[in-house]
Amino acid sequence: MDFYQVLEGRSSIRAFLPRPVDEGLLEKILLAAGYSPSYMNTQPWEVFVVMGKKKEELCAGLSLAAQEDEPKRPDFPLPTAWPEALEKRLSAHRRNRFAALRVDTSDQKKLRAGYLRNFQLYGAPCGVFVGLDQTLTSWSMFDSGLFVHGFLMALHAEGLGGCPQAMLTIYPDIIRKHLRITDNIKMAMGISVGYPDYDSPLNSYRSQRKDINEFVRWFD
Ligand SMILES: Cc1cc2nc3c(=O)[nH]c(=O)nc-3n(C[C@H](O)[C@H](O)[C@H](O)COP(=O)(O)O)c2cc1C
Repeated sequence: MDFYQVLEGRSSIRAFLPRPVDEGLLEKILLAAGYSPSYMNTQPWEVFVVMGKKKEELCAGLSLAAQEDEPKRPDFPLPTAWPEALEKRLSAHRRNRFAALRVDTSDQKKLRAGYLRNFQLYGAPCGVFVGLDQTLTSWSMFDSGLFVHGFLMALHAEGLGGCPQAMLTIYPDIIRKHLRITDNIKMAMGISVGYPDYDSPLNSYRSQRKDINEFVRWFD
């Protein structure tokens, strides 16, 4: 696949085939993502891969907390407000995505079912969590983002797919407990990983992008 096809062809995958992910292939992809740049080559990312029975147990724990509406307690606070332009894009994204899924945005039951699917890793056979030591700064969060992007690109290049999910970090203590991760590791991102089910309507929607004139200013 041409590099630009990888960049432009990737999308967030929210429905997966019941096909397992080969550990060797995942290792190759993670190694490739590890080539991402980082502040003074600190490579702050700590990666936790979960599959099989452990994944089922973790999903059950996260789902229960979500179903019972336990208060969100992410290590990295979720945004509560956005600047106007971003809020507009967010609303448009929500509107277009639900329209593509033929879900009425006033249908609270369906919206909630969609929300809860986050905690089932959208049915993916594999979950990848990225953590950071608690002493690190936003620069290391930046580095982790680069790592996650490299990871998503490599997944797509290999015919796999993923969905980066902030929602998978809202109960970080449950992840630490299930995966025996020490308290000093803070959860930055959770990613559902597997083979995309492109026949599912959940994967049919393509998010819009800003026009280049909206985000680039040239100086001469
Ligand atoms: C930091 C971050 C957090 C995200 N959190 C979620 C999430 O909790 N659940 C979800 O389904 N998608 C989540 N996404 C996926 C975004 O909705 C998606 O990347 C965006 O709409 C652009 O669409 P695309 O990835 O298909 O290009 C997240 C993406 C990022 C980068």
